Amino acid sequence: MKVEVFKTKEEANAAAAKVFIDAVNANPNIILGLATGGTPEGLYAVLADANKAGKVSFKTVRSWNLDEYVGLPKEHPETYRNFMNRKLFDNIDIDKANTHVLNGLATDKEGECAAYEASLKAAGGVDIQLLGIGSDGHIAFNEPGSPFDSRTREVFLEQQTIDDNARFFDGDKSKVPTSALSMGIATILDAKKIVLLAYGANKAQAVRDAVKGTPDVKCPASALQSHPDVTFYCDEAAASLLG
Ligand code: GLP
Repeated sequence: MKVEVFKTKEEANAAAAKVFIDAVNANPNIILGLATGGTPEGLYAVLADANKAGKVSFKTVRSWNLDEYVGLPKEHPETYRNFMNRKLFDNIDIDKANTHVLNGLATDKEGECAAYEASLKAAGGVDIQLLGIGSDGHIAFNEPGSPFDSRTREVFLEQQTIDDNARFFDGDKSKVPTSALSMGIATILDAKKIVLLAYGANKAQAVRDAVKGTPDVKCPASALQSHPDVTFYCDEAAASLLG
């Protein structure tokens, strides 16, 4: 597990974006694992700028997103599908038919999750997975207690995650969905390479537990220690407890 610390998140975004741009240029048919939340927004803006400047093309790239809220109406701006369209897919030359996000309105949730796993496997698996980290150490929506061998399934959000994400729902905790469909920890660990972004002091404890703690389900991100190719891109605040 490597940790790179940058003075600002802008510098970290530029370095992480370079990893993605170089990888896409080396393999235009690459499979990307993508993440939502506030953290990746800056990186997505860098990718869109690079695409517009002709430095990279996503025409033949395929993507699978980590997770999706359960039950939000299709047109709700905070579905992760709509977030991804707005923050990335509408701003680059990717073919939206090649972008995959779990359907949080599926009536057969188990079937939806199994089909998602199967489609990813059939495509050959994720080449580079982008991750954020929750302030409680969650990755995707794998909350503390999630088994390290978990696969895509319905998961229930911890109160801390609901509180953290209320900022996307007019600050109203009651509007935040209580469950989501999420890739499991084992699904994430199947990726060939993992890039995790962590910015801000409220991520410092989770980053410390993930990097320095004994791997334990109490900090889902600590499962990443067993993966051969993981790099954390942190700003100084998020790295402040690493010592
Ligand atoms: C969200 C997402 C995660 C994300 C994390 C941190 O709820 N499901 O994929 O990494 O929580 O979010 P943020 O980047 O907004 O701090």
